[in-house]
Amino acid sequence: ALKVKNEVKRKRELALVGGGTKRIEKQHQKGKLTARERLEVLLDPKSFVEYDMFVEHRCNDFGMDKEKYYGDSVITGHGLINGRPVYVFSQDFTVFGGSLSSVHAQKICKIMDQAMLVGAPVIGLNDSGGARIQEGVESLAGYADIFQRNVLASGVIPQLSLIMGPCAGGAVYSPALTDFIFMVRQTSYLFITGPDVVQSVTNENVTQEELGGANSHMTKSGVAHFAYDNDIDTLLRTRELFNFLPLSNKDPTPIRECDDSPNRLVDSLNTVIPLESTAAYDMKEVIYATVDEHDFFEVMPEWAKNIIVVGIVANQPKSMAGCLDINASVKAARFVRFCDAFNIPLLTFVDVPGFLPGTSQEHNGIIRHGAKLLYAFAEATVPKITIITRKAYGGAYDVAVMGAQGAVKIIFREGKNVKDKELEYIDKFANPFPAAIRGFVDDIIEPNQTRKRICRDLNLLAGKQLDNPRKKHANMPL
Ligand code: COA
Repeated sequence: ALKVKNEVKRKRELALVGGGTKRIEKQHQKGKLTARERLEVLLDPKSFVEYDMFVEHRCNDFGMDKEKYYGDSVITGHGLINGRPVYVFSQDFTVFGGSLSSVHAQKICKIMDQAMLVGAPVIGLNDSGGARIQEGVESLAGYADIFQRNVLASGVIPQLSLIMGPCAGGAVYSPALTDFIFMVRQTSYLFITGPDVVQSVTNENVTQEELGGANSHMTKSGVAHFAYDNDIDTLLRTRELFNFLPLSNKDPTPIRECDDSPNRLVDSLNTVIPLESTAAYDMKEVIYATVDEHDFFEVMPEWAKNIIVVGIVANQPKSMAGCLDINASVKAARFVRFCDAFNIPLLTFVDVPGFLPGTSQEHNGIIRHGAKLLYAFAEATVPKITIITRKAYGGAYDVAVMGAQGAVKIIFREGKNVKDKELEYIDKFANPFPAAIRGFVDDIIEPNQTRKRICRDLNLLAGKQLDNPRKKHANMPL
């Protein structure tokens, strides 16, 4: 018995150093933490319970039978974040470059299955050279097993992906199927094919960072939701986002104690919105001023800046006048669906001049993409509260069909008294009364009452019960 005990201890110690101290040093030199160090930052102290620490890969080709590491190239298990349970996997770059062997995939699948059974989120820390080249198709089959679970878990438990090193080729699709992607600036990248392949196929000269670094995915592609300067910041911010999320679709939204009174009047809102209907202002000021303790975790702050999403969806008049375009529609639609899947009420601040005109928008399918946003809001059964801070024109919300000037130009193609007609249109439609008279808006409130009113309604609507008709799944526009 003593012999077995010592053997377990010896193997455990070996597992703890992964690919060995030299490779750990190399990892540190790149400014990256090791897979285990990352879990220490992400999880509450001493809360990590590891599974499958003694698993070895089963490949005997290309001399692999002589090179095995306990646990292989991924660390899996569960732990706590601020006392709430979470399942995690952390790819170990020091073991075969964190590459995905069939046992690596099995370890990930095991914790994903358990997370679904228990109803707890999964956080994946990605740092991997992709498919284990020595294993070939065995490894690729492993990806398919993970993708299948990502899809089945979607809408059941929150899934977060942290990209903390390479993540390329087929490997990108597991993060892409999850709810939120975090990236570390300078040390992580995501792409389908790397710079060499791009060069040989399209003759484009591009660096890894330009092609798939955090900056590109935050500002150009809209693939990443958050990016921070180093591993520690990224892990700590992940803990912060986690605090906002329910554990599963059956779990109530976390309620946080706060000292901010629901009756607080927000006097700054009386002056933040300019009187002119086209002058810019920062919708984030409205949000910060309204929410509990000014605590607001913005999703995708650098992409489609004309729409802000935070459990709150808000047009941003400071960026492109808050117009809805393809990117804004897609950003908001995906977020609305996340909130609805996990019973997070939707608060929408509207100040929108309409959809962005132009051939680029039309030919790239604004009809298809705008429909996603419409679809997402219409499908959502959670409480929905909308504050129109100034204007809501056009398909974006048909209170007034369009701005007064545009409307008059169309109704009265030519003519002298255009200015008079414009004033008549403003009087008739471009103010809250026509909508209020018809019952399309529930009330017209003083700006400083916004928070009080929202809190009261959220409280009441917490008991909202609504189910959409049963179906296999809908055919939402994609
Ligand atoms: N399969 C098996 N081993 C791999 C691997 C893979 N896919 N990717 C990396 N490794 C191993 C390397 O052989 C090396 O082993 P060593 O420590 O015994 O020398 C170790 O992981 C680190 O790789 P290295 O190339 O030294 O690190 P790097 O930081 O310079 O480069 C990559 C990282 C990911 C860019 C590079 O390893 C790479 O291009 N890997 C292959 C990517 C790929 O084509 N994957 C398969 C298709 S998805």
